[in-house]
Amino acid sequence: MGYRETYEASLRDPEAFWLEQAKAIDWDQAPTRALDESKAPLYEWYPDAMGNTCYNCVDRHVAAGRGDQAAIIHDSPVTNSKTTITYSELLDQVSRLAGVLRGHGVLKGDRVVIYMPMVPEALVAMLACARIGAVHSVVFGGFAAKELAVRLDDCAPKAVIAGSCGIEPGRVVEYKPLLDEAIELAEAKPDICLILQREAALASLMPGRDFDLHDEMGRADPAECVPIAATDPLYILYTSGTTGQPKGVVRPSGGHMVALHWTMKNLYNVEAGDVYWAASDVGWVVGHSYICYGPLLAGCTTIVFEGKPVGTPDAGTFWRVIAEHKVRTFFTAPTAFRAIKREDPKGEFVGKYDMSSLQALYFAGERADPDTVNWAGEMLGVPVIDHWWQTETGYAIVANPLGLEPQPIKVGSPTVPMPGYDVQILSPEGEQMGAGELGAVAIKLPLPPGTLPTLWNAQERYLKSYLTTFPGYYETGDAGMLDEDGYLYIMARTDDVINVAGHRLSTGAMEEALAGHPDVAECAVIGAADTLKGQVPVGFLCLSKGVNRPEAEIVAECVAKVREEIGPVAAFKSAVVVDRLPKTRSGKILRGVMVKIADGTEWKMPATIDDPAILDEIGDALQRIGFAKG
Ligand code: COA
Ligand code: AMP
Repeated sequence: MGYRETYEASLRDPEAFWLEQAKAIDWDQAPTRALDESKAPLYEWYPDAMGNTCYNCVDRHVAAGRGDQAAIIHDSPVTNSKTTITYSELLDQVSRLAGVLRGHGVLKGDRVVIYMPMVPEALVAMLACARIGAVHSVVFGGFAAKELAVRLDDCAPKAVIAGSCGIEPGRVVEYKPLLDEAIELAEAKPDICLILQREAALASLMPGRDFDLHDEMGRADPAECVPIAATDPLYILYTSGTTGQPKGVVRPSGGHMVALHWTMKNLYNVEAGDVYWAASDVGWVVGHSYICYGPLLAGCTTIVFEGKPVGTPDAGTFWRVIAEHKVRTFFTAPTAFRAIKREDPKGEFVGKYDMSSLQALYFAGERADPDTVNWAGEMLGVPVIDHWWQTETGYAIVANPLGLEPQPIKVGSPTVPMPGYDVQILSPEGEQMGAGELGAVAIKLPLPPGTLPTLWNAQERYLKSYLTTFPGYYETGDAGMLDEDGYLYIMARTDDVINVAGHRLSTGAMEEALAGHPDVAECAVIGAADTLKGQVPVGFLCLSKGVNRPEAEIVAECVAKVREEIGPVAAFKSAVVVDRLPKTRSGKILRGVMVKIADGTEWKMPATIDDPAILDEIGDALQRIGFAKG
């Protein structure tokens, strides 16, 4: 079957389609049915199936004779090291760490927070949790202690597995003091912390609570896989929403295996033995799905890359990794290519490497601008595939299924809906829009297997955030349109989420941090266009009456406060003091117009504005800090 027949079959008879795909997985108890609609609009997939994700990622490849094949290659220019772990070695490490967790009383359903840099132990930790049915929640290393504390409180982990440090170009980021501070701040304290000691910064361990990860693994008895209900959570991954409280996206274990496995051949066109590389971080959904689970489910070799596209040591690093490890499929965010293009516009580094193994490049995480797509295509001479998805779905909603049947590429569009996703464009009233008309991008329920069934501890928020605006649909939070060929175009977010260097961030969370500054009476944060990062946050600060300190001092404190409370990943570097914020007569801040002024694009005076003169003041303020150049 080609793309169109496959897609139509998935919508016409989801039950048959997804039961068929489930045959690719080894189950303890195979599903006899696919979809449970009894609690609609809450849906569950494979309600009677039992299986184990770790088994399917590791044990079964060893059992099938692939034990000597590389499972993970850790390529780390920042520590000048390269390590290969075979599937047999991975099985040994994962079962030992699972044994350590079990020995410390971590049981099926208990949560484990993982706070680690890009090292193989991060994947070993995820898989060890999966092995015993513990629910992991990986927190990105670029988040500060307070953000980590919020996540500890929300999921109340029994254990934390952390690295002693991460290595950013030019500096060592000590994770352990951040972890200690987070545990201090959090009400939910873990019983134990397992620490991976890294040479660049050894952590001091608190007796009775902290243990050396490798020492413990050396002593442990290996643990076997535990059968897990397909509807049980494999992990929780926190992502940014409108407020400072992140959303805990729950990933159901069974549907996730089936769906990811399907994508490996049909979308990414790889099979067992191929080398797959997603240059992202395990802290993001791309890292969960395509550094860890997807490639391992398919028996591929996955690359864990600890470095940056530029500066580690140069703009040719990506090409070196592709050539050296014979990468077949490469996945990253467009921002990484913008960084490379800025340093090496003619692509002189590309010619130095034998890149003949590479079949295709995949972009996701943010809008793939045509300049970057075209440049990448010219430099690499392979198809550049944009695909659109979210933490909530865990894999592509709209993509170009190269392995199933390549669709003609239209630059600017992530192409066509994947099986199970009935993507529609809706008006504010919930009516379907015609081809070429802009509206809210929504997906008709049910979503396919592996997508979020709920938010952790927050069923009401799940319903309100995603299922209420358009009854019968999942609201993606993106605006866009479908063309006459059914190609999707993503234009913007409809909420206060911004996308900085492919990282999803909440302006609401930054506003909460700024509002906590004693001199700030009111504030707003917007995402302004940036040639490298896609968007960067810009803060507007209205000071309390009587504050008489130099504005530059207050701005510097505010910048430091966001870095301290949210983390360096927020990339919050620009803020400006203004007298007032532009608002509607009902008091809503007009962020949309502020974005347009900052970007120097055309804007219309909102009919509901309270005082139009404020917009001139905003434009002047933005110009003072290098925006609104038009
Ligand atoms: N631990 C600690 N700090 C981290 C971190 C981590 N894991 N990751 C990033 N940071 C820090 C950075 O050092 C930087 O700090 P600085 O303000 O002191 O310079 C800050 O967070 C912002 O990081 P980032 O936005 O990534 O900017 P950058 O200048 O370091 O790198 C790119 C820019 C484009 C090279 C980089 O973002 C990149 O490669 N992105 C594409 C790939 C990707 O990760 N995509 C994610 C989803 S697919
Ligand atoms: P995240 O949950 O971090 O993966 O972020 C998801 C959001 O990133 C989406 O809702 C979009 O706003 C944006 N996004 C992801 N991929 C793309 C893409 N290919 N094109 C445009 N926007 C994208």
